[in-house]
Amino acid sequence: MGQQTPNKILITGGAGFIGSHVVRRFVKSHKQHHVYNLDALTYAGNLENLRDIEDSANYTFIKGNIVDETFINKLFLDYKFDGVIHLAAESHVDRSISDPSSFVRTNVLGTVNLLNASLKLAKGNPDFKFYHISTDEVYGALGETGFFLETTPYNPNSPYSASKASSDHFVRAYGETYGLPFIISNCSNNYGPHQFPEKLIPLFINNIIHNKALPVYGDGNYTRDWLYVIDHARAIDLVYHKGKMGETYNIGGFNEWKNIDLVQLLCRLMDEKLDRPRGTSEKLITFVKDRPGHDLRYAIDAGKIHKEQGWEPTVTFEEGLGKTIDWYLGNQEWLENVTSGDYREYYKKQYQQ
Ligand code: NAD
Ligand code: DAU
Repeated sequence: MGQQTPNKILITGGAGFIGSHVVRRFVKSHKQHHVYNLDALTYAGNLENLRDIEDSANYTFIKGNIVDETFINKLFLDYKFDGVIHLAAESHVDRSISDPSSFVRTNVLGTVNLLNASLKLAKGNPDFKFYHISTDEVYGALGETGFFLETTPYNPNSPYSASKASSDHFVRAYGETYGLPFIISNCSNNYGPHQFPEKLIPLFINNIIHNKALPVYGDGNYTRDWLYVIDHARAIDLVYHKGKMGETYNIGGFNEWKNIDLVQLLCRLMDEKLDRPRGTSEKLITFVKDRPGHDLRYAIDAGKIHKEQGWEPTVTFEEGLGKTIDWYLGNQEWLENVTSGDYREYYKKQYQQ
């Protein structure tokens, strides 16, 4: 390494699903950066996700909560970050329906705390940037046709998407009002290794392994646009380094699937991988009461990031789903750990925190 001072990047939520892939990518591919991973280690955060890079010279883990304003202000003054990539959030729609307030606290208040602390650093550093990671759910629901563009009006329907929309608005408002340099990206449904088994794909993989029912909401005719998480991490890398300040980028998989078709495909692949007779997993499909406010369809037009940054997904769904299933089958201890009630105690002992 040269004598250059490393560029200090704060990545929030780096122990979570997408965050862990972003942290790994930055630590491995950008030795000029020092990555600070700030994470509260909620049920969704897991340092096991980062075992392979935790001893890297350009990586530091910091346990802390973005809702704690005093802690955040001190952290920013102590470390004087050059940039922030903000992923920490409550991320599960079903949880937002049963406990909306925790989504307001983390996703809205937590984001505003980071913005306030960032403003102070931006004043003394013209290169400072705040990159906010958001979701396509802020745009609401599509009918059978059409795509979300960066210009699509916000129309969130769940407490989760309302909290993410609110945080997006605050980021943009801090740009307009105080001149904070910012970028926002809004991505479609991610899948891949390390996703907590409450989201559709890992939940159903886990349930198939244990011969448990696969609860399909409503009639299953809801459509999502799926993107392999590694492709999202690569997009985040590009946007952080090359994106234009004050811009929004939509990121998606060009890969729409109706839930029921996806679940049937997953069942077929799981039967093959587990060497079970074809049709075994499909028998587990159970249609259950629909999610309230369930958005019919999401589909991203990722033309802008493609045109400006040359980004496009590289992993096909078949390949990505195969890799994802292999990862969960090969990491059943991880699945046990994250779903076991004792896991938090294990964690505390492990990290003495
Ligand atoms: P996740 O739930 O897997 O991880 C969230 C991480 O944030 C966890 O490590 C958790 O410990 C941490 N965290 C939660 N509350 C915190 C707090 N108060 N202080 C500090 N850390 C806290 O989420 P994910 O699926 O990886 O999503 C990451 C980001 O990407 C979120 O902002 C989400 O809205 C966005 N996003 C997710 C998807 C998707 O399909 N998963 C798609 C588009 C956008
Ligand atoms: O679109 C991006 C969003 O994708 C992210 O912002 C969210 O953080 C992420 O959780 C995801 O939201 P969804 O609600 O689309 O993901 P989920 O995996 O919960 O559900 C996917 C679809 O599957 C949705 O139509 C609901 C349905 N579903 C989900 C679960 C958990 C079921 O039918 N049964 C289930 O048990």
